[in-house]
Amino acid sequence: MQSAYIDVTLTFFFITVPVLLLFKLYLKCSIGWCKSQRTLVGRTAIITGANTGIGLETAIDFAKRGAKVILACRNFSKAAEARRLIIEKTDNPNIHIKLVDLSSFESVRAFARSVNESEERLDILVNNAGVAPQSEEKTRDGYHLGMQVNYFSMFLLTNLLLGLMEKTGSSRVVNVSSLMANFALKFNLNDLCKHLGDVDMYCRTKLCIILFTKELAKRLTNTSVTTYSLHPGAVKTDIYNDALKNVIYWFVFYPMKNWCSKTPEEGAQTTIYCSVEKNIEQFSGQHFEDCHIVGDYYSARNVELAAKLWSMTEKLVGLNNEK
Ligand SMILES: NC(=O)c1ccc[n+]([C@@H]2O[C@H](COP(=O)([O-])OP(=O)(O)OC[C@H]3O[C@@H](n4cnc5c(N)ncnc54)[C@H](OP(=O)(O)O)[C@@H]3O)[C@@H](O)[C@H]2O)c1
Ligand SMILES: *[C@@H]1O[C@H](CO)[C@@H](O)[C@H](O)[C@H]1NC(C)=O
Ligand SMILES: *[C@@H]1O[C@H](CO)[C@@H](O)[C@H](O)[C@H]1NC(C)=O
Ligand SMILES: *[C@@H]1O[C@H](CO)[C@@H](O)[C@H](O)[C@H]1NC(C)=O
Ligand SMILES: *[C@@H]1O[C@H](CO)[C@@H](O)[C@H](O)[C@H]1NC(C)=O
Repeated sequence: MQSAYIDVTLTFFFITVPVLLLFKLYLKCSIGWCKSQRTLVGRTAIITGANTGIGLETAIDFAKRGAKVILACRNFSKAAEARRLIIEKTDNPNIHIKLVDLSSFESVRAFARSVNESEERLDILVNNAGVAPQSEEKTRDGYHLGMQVNYFSMFLLTNLLLGLMEKTGSSRVVNVSSLMANFALKFNLNDLCKHLGDVDMYCRTKLCIILFTKELAKRLTNTSVTTYSLHPGAVKTDIYNDALKNVIYWFVFYPMKNWCSKTPEEGAQTTIYCSVEKNIEQFSGQHFEDCHIVGDYYSARNVELAAKLWSMTEKLVGLNNEK
């Protein structure tokens, strides 16, 4: 009895602990950092969901590089607090708030109109805002909340701002997707919006974003606009707040979040890289992790599906009416 107890203790200290520490060290070492020194003086960037998490760190980085940064957020008081923090950290006063609620097409249209009117240029659009709702909640427009915020709205927003971006010259659309797109196994265009489970829905919204890589990049071929999608890594942010506190949460997500997650600053690196790194234009349409290209996820290889999804989405968000 006594010796079994000692065995377990020894195993824990001499095997489990070192293995865990090595794993942690590996995680730290594998984080990609954007080393670009490029300045963004005279450039304008919009970041959705810039008041917290990955979006906030991205905004701080752009502000340090001298950009004019537009925080596209839904809550004024949260955005104002973020703006204060960014200015305090970077001494760049050129930080602006424009409200947008990505769960409403009307709000997205009003936002795009206002940007189009007030801005002379748009160099970088970071579609970062995202939600992982734990419900079948529907928006006023009648779609699943996660689908509309994560995908439909960024589709609409990007398309409405493309004119301004083309006019600007060399500009970039950067979409924050997720590795979770790998698990959108039951993806089917006929029931794009059918709720088969919260996690499945999140995965699907993230797959939609990647499928657009191909289609938008294709459509932008002869323009000065390029586009990139990425997985930021597992990052410790508010996105976990909505998670159901069930067994999976306590045994998988909770330890992951607290022990092997990136900080938001680490998590923002690939977004920053895709936004500022020089000479990556030739890789428009590709998917990135840790500041380098990764192959397409298995679920995202179907080029025809990407084209079909585009035309379907165009109808769902009513884009043709604008043209
Ligand atoms: N964290 C991770 O491990 C992880 C992994 C893979 C991918 N991602 C992706 O990374 C992106 C950023 O996530 P994060 O981890 O930084 O999450 P976060 O801290 O929860 O930030 C999400 C941002 O989106 C905003 N937002 C949510 N709904 C909105 C709406 N209807 N209209 C406008 N803005 C809205 C939030 O605003 P409020 O503050 O007002 O709620 C917040 O600013 C997301 O697309 C997420 O899917 C994250
Ligand atoms: C905005 O955020 C603040 C601070 O978290 C919160 O108290 C307030 O209710 C939010 N406003 C809206 C309209 O959601
Ligand atoms: C933006 O402005 C241009 C010209 O000023 C106009 O042609 C275009 O329709 C506008 N787009 C939006 C989304 O308002
Ligand atoms: C980014 O999102 C927009 C809007 O959904 C889409 O048109 C574009 O193809 C996406 N780009 C990438 C690289 O995923
Ligand atoms: C790009 O330009 C080439 C040469 O002018 C043309 O053949 C091709 O169809 C164009 N592609 C797109 C997507 O417009």
